[in-house]
Amino acid sequence: MRFSTAIAAISITFHSHFFLLPTVVAESRFEVVTKILPSPLISTDSNPTMKCHETAEYMALQAAATSFHSDDKLHLRNLCSDSSRCAGLVATHNSGEHKIIVDYSRQQVTGPTMDLLFDLANKVGLTQKRDDMRSGLKINSTEGRSVMHHVLRMPKGYDYSSRNPQGKAILDEVHAVRDKIEIFTNKVRSGEFRGSTGKELKNFVCIGIGGSQLGPEFVNEALRADAAAAKASQGRILRFLANVDPVDFELCTRDLDPEETLIVVISKTFTTAETMLNARTAKKWIIDSLSSRGVSNVDEITSKHIIAVSTAIDLCVSFGIDEANIFGFWEWVGGRFSVCSAVGIVPLSLQYSYDVMSQFLDGAHDIDDHFFDAPLRDNIPVLLGLLGVWNSTFMGYATRALLPYAQALKRFPAHIQQVDMESNGKRVALDGSVLPFQSGEINFGEPGTNGQHSFYQLMHQGRVVPADFIGFMESQAPVDLIGEHVSNHDELMSNFFAQPDALAYGKGLTDLVQEGVPEALREHKVFSGNRPSTSILMSKLDAFAVGQLLAIYEHRTAVQGFIWGLNSFDQWGVELGKVLAKQVRSQLTASRKNGAPVIGFNSSTGSLLEAYLAHGK
Ligand code: F6P
Repeated sequence: MRFSTAIAAISITFHSHFFLLPTVVAESRFEVVTKILPSPLISTDSNPTMKCHETAEYMALQAAATSFHSDDKLHLRNLCSDSSRCAGLVATHNSGEHKIIVDYSRQQVTGPTMDLLFDLANKVGLTQKRDDMRSGLKINSTEGRSVMHHVLRMPKGYDYSSRNPQGKAILDEVHAVRDKIEIFTNKVRSGEFRGSTGKELKNFVCIGIGGSQLGPEFVNEALRADAAAAKASQGRILRFLANVDPVDFELCTRDLDPEETLIVVISKTFTTAETMLNARTAKKWIIDSLSSRGVSNVDEITSKHIIAVSTAIDLCVSFGIDEANIFGFWEWVGGRFSVCSAVGIVPLSLQYSYDVMSQFLDGAHDIDDHFFDAPLRDNIPVLLGLLGVWNSTFMGYATRALLPYAQALKRFPAHIQQVDMESNGKRVALDGSVLPFQSGEINFGEPGTNGQHSFYQLMHQGRVVPADFIGFMESQAPVDLIGEHVSNHDELMSNFFAQPDALAYGKGLTDLVQEGVPEALREHKVFSGNRPSTSILMSKLDAFAVGQLLAIYEHRTAVQGFIWGLNSFDQWGVELGKVLAKQVRSQLTASRKNGAPVIGFNSSTGSLLEAYLAHGK
C-alpha cells in the first residue's frame, strides 16, 4: 500500500543510448550521513569537462538562433506544417495508468538544433553531472554538500548502495523519519494525540517561508480537489503562514480555535527571521488563549500544540518543542528541494494522510528513475532543461511562463519560480569565473484560463515569452451540464489546445483582408506568431501525478544549471538583503525605544526611515 512499485515504460522518440553505471568513487567524497559537519570546498571536477561557452556547439547554436530570428522558412507556422518533424519532437512517459506526453514541436527547433543541444550536453558532461548527483557526490561545492532530494522518495528496500557506498544507511535514516511521520500523523488524525484541553487537533498552521512553505503549499492546493485526498482531509484545515506581515498572521488564525490547532514550525535552519517571529507570535497566541481557558502548564501547551520540522533539533528544543515532536531532515536537502522531506510530508500527511502522501513520493520517485536512467533524448527533464537553455541563452528570451490548465496547480508556478530562480539566477560558474552570459530565467505563471484574461495579450502581440502549457485528460471535479456543447473540463481544455497554436501560427494581414477587417484596424489585429511553447498533457492530477510533476521541474532546473556550469544548489544572493535588514532593525529599535536619530544610511533610505518613524505607529 505504501510504496507500490511503479513500472515505468518509456517510449523511444529518437534513437536510444545506454549509459554506463557511475564508476565507484572514493568513499570520502560522499556525504556524512548523520552529523552536520563543516565540510571543505570540494571540487566536483572528477571528469573535467568543457564550459558550455567554450564549445563549438555553443557557437553553432548562436548561429542557429540567428537563423531562427531571421529566416521565414523557420517560422513556427512552417515548421509545424512538417508532420514528420513534429512527430519527432514528442516524448512520452507511461507509468501504470499515469501517462505524460511532452510535445515540444512548437519550440523553435529542428532535429539538427536538438542534435546540437545534445552534443552541447555531452561536451559539458551532463550525464556525469547527473550521475554525480544521483550518487551523492558533493556537487553543491560552495557549501560542501551533496544534493540528494531524490533519496527522500526512494521506497524502502530500494538498492541505493550500488550507487552510493553509504546508500543503505542514508535510506534507513530517511525511512526512520518517514515511519515517525506516519505514526505521529496517524495519531493526530485518529484523535490519539490531542490538544491540551483534550480536543482533537483539526487545524494545522504551517509557519515557514520560501522552500519551507511554497512546495507544501503547492501540493496542498493540488490535492484539495482530488477525490482520495479530499475524502481524507474532511473536517480538517491546513494553512500556511509565511509573511512576517502581521496581517498574514491575523488572517491565518482569526477564525481558528486554538484548542483544536496544531502549529507546525518549518525551518531548515530554525533561524530565519520571518519564521521565528511568526513562531513566537503563534506560541504567544496559543499560550494566551489556552491559559485564559484554564490550562496553566505552558510546557504542556507548547508540547501539545507546537511541533517542528528542522535540521536544527537543538534550536527547536530550546524553543520549547518536545523532542518527540521534532521531525528532522538533512543538510543535503536544499530548502527549495525539500517538499518531499518532513517539510512537506508532515503537514500534508496531517491533512491528507500518510498513505496519500506516499503515493506523491512514489510519483516523484518514478520520475527520478526516469531522469537518472532514460536516454537523454527521451528524458523529459533533460528535454525541458535543454529547451530552457536554448530559449534563454541562444534565442534571447529572458522570461518563461508556466501555464497549468488546472486550477489545482494555482501555486505550482510560485513554487517553481523559487525552485528555478533561486537555483539558477547566478553570476559565476562553479569555479568562480564570471559567466559570460545571463543565467537563469524569469519564471511566472497563472492557471489558464485566468492568465488568458490577464497577461496573454503581451504574449500574443508583445514580447516573446516561451511557455509550458500543462493540461490533464480528466478533471479532478468533472461537471457536464445538460444543454452545454461540451463538459466544463472540455471547455477548459479547448483553450489548452488552442493557445499554443495561436502563439505559434499567429495571424497575418492576408487573413484579415479576407475576413473583411477594416484597413485601419488590420495592423492592430495582426499576430506575428512564431512564439514557442511546450505542451505537457498528463492523464490525471492525483497525488502520484503531483509528485511526477514536481520531480520533472526540479530536475529541469538541475539540468539547466549543469549545462550552464553553475551551482544550482546554493543561494548566496539572498544574504545581502538580510544583512541590511538587520541594520534597519537595529535603527528602528534604537529610535523607537530611545529616540535615537537615524544615522548610517544613504540620504534616500535615511529620509524614508525618518518619515516612517515620524508617523509614530
Ligand atoms: O530565501 C532564502 C532561504 O534560505 C531559502 O532558500 C529557504 O527555502 C528559506 O530561506 C527558508 O529557510 P529556512 O527553512 O531555513 O527557514
